[in-house]
Amino acid sequence: MKYSRYSIIVIGSGIAGLYAALKLEQQADLPDGLMVLTKSDFGESNSKYAQGGMVAVLKENECDSTESHIADTIKAGAGLNDFNAVKFISENSDNVVKDLLNFGVEFDRDRNNNFCFTKEAAHSVRRILHSGGDATGRMIELALCKRVRDNGNIDIYENGLAVELLVNANSECKGVLVYNSITGEYETIYSSAVILATGGIGQLYKYTTNPEGATGDGLAIAYNAGAVMQDMEFVQFHPTALAFDDDVNRFLISEAVRGEGAKLVDADGIEFMQKYDERKELAPRDIVTRGIYHEMKEKHLDNVYLNASCIDKGTLAERFPTISKKCLEKGIDISRDFIPVAPAAHYFMGGIKTNMQGETSINGLFAIGEVSSTGLHGANRLASNSLLECVVCAYAVSDFLKDKNLSSPKQIDSEIKSVIDKYSEDSDFESVDLSEMKNKLKEIMWKGAGIVRSEKSLSTAIEELNELQEKFGRQAKCLNKYEYELKNMLTVAKLIATSALQRKESRGAHYRLDYPNTNEACVHSILTKKEGELDFVK
Ligand code: FAD
Ligand code: SIN
Repeated sequence: MKYSRYSIIVIGSGIAGLYAALKLEQQADLPDGLMVLTKSDFGESNSKYAQGGMVAVLKENECDSTESHIADTIKAGAGLNDFNAVKFISENSDNVVKDLLNFGVEFDRDRNNNFCFTKEAAHSVRRILHSGGDATGRMIELALCKRVRDNGNIDIYENGLAVELLVNANSECKGVLVYNSITGEYETIYSSAVILATGGIGQLYKYTTNPEGATGDGLAIAYNAGAVMQDMEFVQFHPTALAFDDDVNRFLISEAVRGEGAKLVDADGIEFMQKYDERKELAPRDIVTRGIYHEMKEKHLDNVYLNASCIDKGTLAERFPTISKKCLEKGIDISRDFIPVAPAAHYFMGGIKTNMQGETSINGLFAIGEVSSTGLHGANRLASNSLLECVVCAYAVSDFLKDKNLSSPKQIDSEIKSVIDKYSEDSDFESVDLSEMKNKLKEIMWKGAGIVRSEKSLSTAIEELNELQEKFGRQAKCLNKYEYELKNMLTVAKLIATSALQRKESRGAHYRLDYPNTNEACVHSILTKKEGELDFVK
């Protein structure tokens, strides 16, 4: 099997991975170099599709303060947030924004060259920076991808799928085993530190705002390697994805459209959010999502509508060019017509448990961005806090690693050798109908572990996932990239459903029909794989 050696390998070319790579290259001593590995084309990621913007608690924004941002984040997170994580990320916001500007990222400004701030749900002030109107993720990705490509010291490996982590008998991560989806070959990459920045899980659900690659790979490989996972039941459903029957990967209609004044209405144009929360359209995301869910259920609707016609036509065109264009392609003029919207899986609050330096429970393995669980988001993420977390945590991990000895490992033990051996053997599998299995998994999760859950729905989901896993039959080696993704989706789906079954309360994005109240005694859920079995840590 081919192999290479690096000081650090960063897995993922979203905003967390790219920014970490740039900071490491600037700050750390990398005797064996730095690689960014990504399973698709460079830059393809959830990050690329981010619309609304990035929270920025800037000194020049006089109406804002870290205290106010911390309070909003904890209120939206239904109290499950870790105060220190919230404080750290909020307080570092000013620094990272300035640093992003140095890397060529531009945020929208007014005629006087001051930043334009927008508002989204559950923010008490305007504090969200945006770029290209509603193309914030794309603009940041473009700038960071260019910087990484132009930087002669960062190697880029596209179409390389991280399949398994190389963890030795002392629970130290020494690299990663990679499947090259172009050549079909396996390779080992040894490194002193592995940084997982592999993003989220939206593809586990029938309806999602996430692109095809959001299959939870990093979560599955970290769990399989024995990493401690946190709050796996917390999946955020965005209230307003553009709803057309034939589209299951749904285009997002940014919360910023509601932030600028758009209203949710039923098919008769009647507003309904006042029934669910006095903050109406700008209540936290979980509340708006459940409001829409009830409205759709009660009135037997496939979707509700967003009415943006109250916003000035010029403002709409300037602030939301991507959304305006996409809707026009579907025959909707957003300055005049109602936009059909419905909830869709959007963001994962749970993940690999880390501290603020990105350290996981495995030495040498770090996690940043959506794949990690720092405790920032609690039970429900405040809008636009994700991009901020990506950059602050990428900055923090590079700061932590900058003084470390980062020589690549020179020896491997029998534990690592046995991992490599598994992938060197020939495999003889019966082929399966992958798209049928993937669709089945997505249906199971949407119905059983979706917006509203119960003991019955979750137990049924787990049973059906077990049957599907048995039918699929892959333990380690698979035939191609899509099989690996399905294997990872099955692993993570079971973790989500099992954790959700265990949490006997409703809080933030986790709503149980059979336990509709919050139980203050419930804390973070922590689980790990022990002797091949899922184990909840008290
Ligand atoms: P990602 O950007 O998802 O990147 C993951 C990377 O890992 C990808 O390059 C992927 O190819 C790679 N990868 C995955 N698995 C493997 C593997 N096995 N091997 C190799 N590579 C792998 N948040 C905000 O704060 N503000 C917003 O306005 C906003 N809008 C959003 C709009 C949409 C439509 C979506 C989907 C999300 C939005 N979010 C927003 C959430 C935010 O974009 C994401 O949480 C964030 O960008 C995640 O960044 P990341 O770097 O952690 O992961
Ligand atoms: C949006 O623009 O509505 C998405 C913002 C986010 O997910 O934080």
